[in-house]
Parts: sequence; C-alpha cells; structure tokens
Amino acid sequence: MSSMKVVILGSGSGSNAEAILSAVSSGQLEEVETVAVYSDVADAGILQKAEGFQVKAVYLDPGPFRTKLDGEAEEKWIESIGEDGPDLIVLAGFMRVLKPPFLQAFSSKIINLHPSLLPSFPGLEAIRQSHDRGVKVTGCTIHWVNEEVDGGEIIAQAPVRVMPGDTLEMLSQKIHAAEHMVLPSVIRDLSLRVIPFPEA
Ligand code: GAR
Repeated sequence: MSSMKVVILGSGSGSNAEAILSAVSSGQLEEVETVAVYSDVADAGILQKAEGFQVKAVYLDPGPFRTKLDGEAEEKWIESIGEDGPDLIVLAGFMRVLKPPFLQAFSSKIINLHPSLLPSFPGLEAIRQSHDRGVKVTGCTIHWVNEEVDGGEIIAQAPVRVMPGDTLEMLSQKIHAAEHMVLPSVIRDLSLRVIPFPEA
C-alpha cells in the first residue's frame, strides 16, 4: 500500500496538527505522509508547529472575505494544494467555509474536526454554545465535508463529560484532549482503509 498524502489546513494554534505530525513522526501512522500545512492566518501557531516538524508550512492570502475562500484567492488555494497531490485534506481548526469549487477539486477527500457532538452545536463557537446551554455530555466530531456547514457524514465522535464547575476553559481543554486522540486515529484508519473513503 502506498502512503496516504495528507494536507492539513488550519487557522489557529495547531494543537491538532501537532498531534497528527507527532503521531507521524513517532511512527504511529506509518502509512501517512504529511506533505503540507496551510493557513489563512500569517502568524498562526499551526505554521510554526509544521516548521518544527520540518513539514512545508504555507500562508496563503485568503482574499477579501472573512468567513470563506472565494474568487481568485480560492483558485490560488486550489492550485497550490492541488500541486501537493493530497489523498486527504484535514481541516484542523480551519475557520473558513469551503465553497463548491474547492469541494469539487478535492471531492470525497476532505474531513473536518468540530468541537461538539454534531448535529448539536454546529457553526462557530461550538464549545461556548455547549457550555452556555449546560449540556452534560459534549465532545468532538470528525466528518466528511460537503456543502452543508458541519453537515457531512459523520466518521467518528468522542464524548466528553461536563462536570459541575467546569469553566469554558476547562471544557475547551477536555475537548482538545479528546480531539488529539481521535483525529490521529481516524487518519490512521483512513490510511489503512479500515475506514473507507466515499465514492468520489
Ligand atoms: C479545534 O478545537 C477544532 O475542533 C476547532 O478549532 C480548534 C482548533 O484547535 N474547529 C472548529 O471550531 C471548526 N468550526 P487547534 O488549532 O489547537 O488544533
């Protein structure tokens, strides 16, 4: 089996990218090659994390819109990522909506990590939403990306219990810890075809 080429997209600190990169570098994901990490935020921690693992780290101008990639900028993203030839694109804290041209360019190859048990609390600030709502169980979800925001087929979920007195910060840390376990394991299962890719 040839190794699965993975490209990671993120906008933030990159703790999930780090979990993936560290699992690859320690040999836990032997069939995975992380070819590049892209960010729409020039000084995002995720780019420094990638550099720390000697993985190609690229800031690309996201264009004029705040919440999506569109137009010329979107074309540039498609072209650059296309040159990396990814088998899988992982959205690890990427805070923009991907539109049909991008989705079609990488059809059935994009997964997203979301910090709630979907379909509860889609969209932005999911951890705050669940904290404010007072749920007693939350968690994280990994799903295939389609045109519906946070609406694609669910691949895996991990539950997190909310204890009395948990602050937003504590809950956020617990969800991140769950994400750092489940995301590398899903990528491993995809690379070994334990989890199948959808038909393109
Ligand atoms: C993660 O908690 C991820 O679930 C969330 O952003 C965080 C990124 O953290 N994604 C979303 O909210 C997507 N809507 P990280 O930069 O430390 O990996």
